[in-house]
Amino acid sequence: MPTPLYILVTGATGFIGAHVVDELLRRGHRVRAATRSLPKGELMKISRPQYAAQLDIVQVPDFATLASFTDAVQGVDGIIHVASPFTYATTDNEKELVKPAIAGVRAVLEAAAQEKTIKRVVITSSFAAVLDVGRRPPPRFTYTAEDWNPLTYEEAVAKETSAVVAYRGSKKFAELAAWEFVRERKPGFDVVTLCPPMTFGPIAHPVERLADLNESNAMLWAVASGREMPVARVPFWVDVRDLAVAHVEALCRLEAGEKRFVVASGEKFSYGLVKTVVEEEFEWGRGRVAKGEQEVDDSYDLDGETAGRVLRVRYRRFRDTVRDFVEQAVKMEEREKS
Ligand SMILES: NC(=O)c1ccc[n+]([C@@H]2O[C@H](COP(=O)([O-])OP(=O)(O)OC[C@H]3O[C@@H](n4cnc5c(N)ncnc54)[C@H](OP(=O)(O)O)[C@@H]3O)[C@@H](O)[C@H]2O)c1
Repeated sequence: MPTPLYILVTGATGFIGAHVVDELLRRGHRVRAATRSLPKGELMKISRPQYAAQLDIVQVPDFATLASFTDAVQGVDGIIHVASPFTYATTDNEKELVKPAIAGVRAVLEAAAQEKTIKRVVITSSFAAVLDVGRRPPPRFTYTAEDWNPLTYEEAVAKETSAVVAYRGSKKFAELAAWEFVRERKPGFDVVTLCPPMTFGPIAHPVERLADLNESNAMLWAVASGREMPVARVPFWVDVRDLAVAHVEALCRLEAGEKRFVVASGEKFSYGLVKTVVEEEFEWGRGRVAKGEQEVDDSYDLDGETAGRVLRVRYRRFRDTVRDFVEQAVKMEEREKS
């Protein structure tokens, strides 16, 4: 791909999307940032005055219809589709998680297929689309980008299904919709999907209150602030800044085309480890962190190395990720109290 590029980023005012926007801007690309909320988009732009000429904001209020993206894709060279519902506070999982995730992918790809300038679409899938909860060691095994979550659509949307499981379904069926679209429609662009596990790190998107933190960072804050020790469903994670690099490399590297990558640090984590890091890194940590212990589950593995090699990602250490986020969260808390 020629540089600089003009890239549409969806979910640009979310946790991961904002870092993807920043990584593109840092490398000199132009970004069209899609958001549901223009005020949030404007906040993003105002807080990056040095990039005013490279960044424009587009409002896409409902990504469930094809028409919603037809204007947003005009004249761009590529798309990084990050937006998808990621919340466990649901009342109707199919309506709030599964259907919009699939509809979002289809709408972006349909619109992209009308725009001849688009060469590649990178989609943020998730390790949730890879995980098979029924597969337990021993024997020890390693998840790779070849693996798929065996959940059926019916299981994902069943009334008794929890939001956690429905979210896993939303990511699986949204990603499958993308691969199916490419297979059947043979568009003029190729697709790359990234399947990150728990993603942590400092925030770059507009968040007014700690109560509005994205799902994954909210877990770190729950430990640091002493609220609770959450359950670590998997021991795999990645730093949001490394994941942003992976997105941009996935967009630009020819050899990444038509591939699926699991982007994950080789180091494993537990919320017990979060507690240790906070106690060691912050003076206030010992008196405040959540009670309870949690061991790192080192009984199975995930291959993040392949993505690291192809996409040139040097994964950060867990300690640095936790420290950088908690440092920022504590400042937010001080501001909230004052
Ligand atoms: N954080 C993790 O641990 C993690 C791990 C693996 C994969 N992922 C994936 O990464 C992506 C971003 O997640 P995140 O952690 O950055 O969460 P986030 O901060 O909640 O961001 C989600 C983004 O998606 C947009 N969005 C959500 N529902 C939407 C809908 N119905 N219509 C249009 N836009 C919608 C939001 O738009 P607004 O800003 O306009 O509200 C927001 O920008 C998601 O695809 C998620 O599945 C996250």
